[in-house]
Amino acid sequence: MSSQQSYSPGVQKYVEQAKAIIAEREAALARAKGMKFDTLAVHGLYTMEEALERNQGAIIEPLYLSTSQAYHDADELEAALGYLIPTWCYTRIANPTTYYLEWLLALLEGYKTGAEISCCVTASGMSAIVQAVDPFLVKQKEGPERINFVSSIQVYGGSFQHFSVRKMRERGIECRWICHPEDIQEWKSRIDGDTRFLFMEAPSNPQQSFADIKALADLAHAHGIPFLIDATCATPALMRPIAHGADIVIHSLTKSATAGGTAIGGALLSRKPIVTQVRNDNPLFKDSFAEYVKFYPYRDNGPAASPFNAMFALNDLRTLRSKMDLLSRNCQTVAEYLQSHPKVYQVDYLGLPSFHLHKMAAKYMTLVDSDDGTGKEVNRYGHLMSFRVDGPPQNARKVFDSFKLIFRATDLGRIKSVATIPAISTHFQQGEEARRMADIPPQLIRLCVGAEHPDDIIADLDQALHTL
Ligand SMILES: Cc1ncc(COP(=O)(O)O)c(C=O)c1O
Repeated sequence: MSSQQSYSPGVQKYVEQAKAIIAEREAALARAKGMKFDTLAVHGLYTMEEALERNQGAIIEPLYLSTSQAYHDADELEAALGYLIPTWCYTRIANPTTYYLEWLLALLEGYKTGAEISCCVTASGMSAIVQAVDPFLVKQKEGPERINFVSSIQVYGGSFQHFSVRKMRERGIECRWICHPEDIQEWKSRIDGDTRFLFMEAPSNPQQSFADIKALADLAHAHGIPFLIDATCATPALMRPIAHGADIVIHSLTKSATAGGTAIGGALLSRKPIVTQVRNDNPLFKDSFAEYVKFYPYRDNGPAASPFNAMFALNDLRTLRSKMDLLSRNCQTVAEYLQSHPKVYQVDYLGLPSFHLHKMAAKYMTLVDSDDGTGKEVNRYGHLMSFRVDGPPQNARKVFDSFKLIFRATDLGRIKSVATIPAISTHFQQGEEARRMADIPPQLIRLCVGAEHPDDIIADLDQALHTL
């Protein structure tokens, strides 16, 4: 309860009553922390008590479509809107179905990290990125006129557009691009006293760039700034960057985390507390950043997730670990096939031992709760890869147009194989020069391998490459 404001006995009665439910949730959380990843993925924080006492025994989390929550009286309304009691108020602020998704993601991202994590689910991956970076880019009263942030240039095209157009061109905030994110010296040379955060995507879409996550987090912290990472392509089943020092992790839930292909969504997750020198009167800003975002800027900006989409995500996430295992193995088989194809001059996949970032990724990307027989987790690298077709760009287009099973779509992370040519789709807007800096030639086909039998995916690629 806020110390600055005194509340009536009526409001305090609701605060007292809420203590029982808070204690029940804390007990459920403590119980969940002793469970394995798969169990968490299946149940999250939706417990037997939640089902039997509040949801008519429904074993699956209920879908709450109501826009708003009713209160008994003015005192309860005041306690709720003052965030003094657990409440959801209004679906733009919170929603019970979304709440289960947020806790599920916090538990998965925090699994075996030893860190406390908070989560804010948003309407899309892009809105998670915007909500994550904006609070660091506010002008401080006595701060410098010009502020900057440092980001890998090897990011999803939408992130590139957001940073270069919305932040740089429209708001005059400098984004300092890093062309070789694996080179820690390049990052070092771009940071100064006005840098607000470091941002990278790993593995990146589509180039598969990667970096030493721990070294980057240490570098950021040495400058008193947070390290933000978009780990969409890894998902918490393969990598949990907070264990290595990251402050904020972003996911497009639209992608591999769900894979179902029925819902758009995003999430930002933060460790408690984050490292930052940005001053903010609200203690949650530093102590529980994702909660701060959720209860303040997100409430005011309106990027709320639809409860429908939260429900789809909850259902898809239940099998995340086994799904990422299967999809990664399929992708490995397909990448090995493409690597030996005479019409393909380069394959970018972190799982290939010949790929220049393979060793670095191997340090970080492992299948959670697996065992290679020696007590270590096995490496898995996700299901996004790209390959470059010999000859002029028309050759890549011809191969692409010949797919009969693999869908041509600007999408990734699907249970069905999908491919695109980023230079004419996802990364078109950023222009030729920025594509050259980001290493996205028009010969590059991005392929996200699905759960079909790899023999059938290879057969489709084979007949398409034979058209050359
Ligand atoms: C790595 C990555 N991050 C973020 C996004 C944006 O996600 P969404 O489409 O859910 O807004 C994408 C979209 O492709 C992506 O690939």
